[in-house]
Amino acid sequence: MELKRFGVSIPRDLLELFDEVVTKRGYIGRSEAIRDAMRLYISQQRWESEDATGFASINIVYEHKPKLMAALLKSQHDSKAKVISTLHTHITHTHCFEILTVEGTVIEIHKLADKIGGISGIEFIEIFTFSLPETEGCKQLQES
Ligand code: NI
Repeated sequence: MELKRFGVSIPRDLLELFDEVVTKRGYIGRSEAIRDAMRLYISQQRWESEDATGFASINIVYEHKPKLMAALLKSQHDSKAKVISTLHTHITHTHCFEILTVEGTVIEIHKLADKIGGISGIEFIEIFTFSLPETEGCKQLQES
C-alpha cells in the first residue's frame, strides 16, 4: 500500500480532543486513528447516497406468534435487499432475538427494516449499516 503524507491545519482544541480519543482507544499514533476516522466518514457519505450499496444487520426482538413469524418471513422473501443470514435466539420462553444480515441499496435495506418494524408485535428494531470504501487499504483489509 502506497502511503501519502499531507499537512492539515486544525484548531489546537480540536487536536487535543482528538489526541484524548487516540490515547483512550489505544492507538499507537494519530495516523491510524485518522485513517479509521476517514474510512468511517467515507462510509457514512456513501450511505447518504441513495443508490449506494452496502451491508446491514437488522436486530429485532419480538414475542413469537405464528402470525408475526409468517409476516416476518414474508417481508424477507419479498424484499429486494438480499438477506444473507439470520440468527435466531430464543431469549425467554416467549421472546426471540433475531439478527438479519442483509445486502442491498440504502433504499432497499431501509424498506425492509421499515416493513419489519411495522409488523405488529415487533418490540425492538435497530439497524447497523456499513459499506467499505473502495480503496486499496480496504481491499487489503478484505483480503487479509
Ligand atoms: Ni425463538
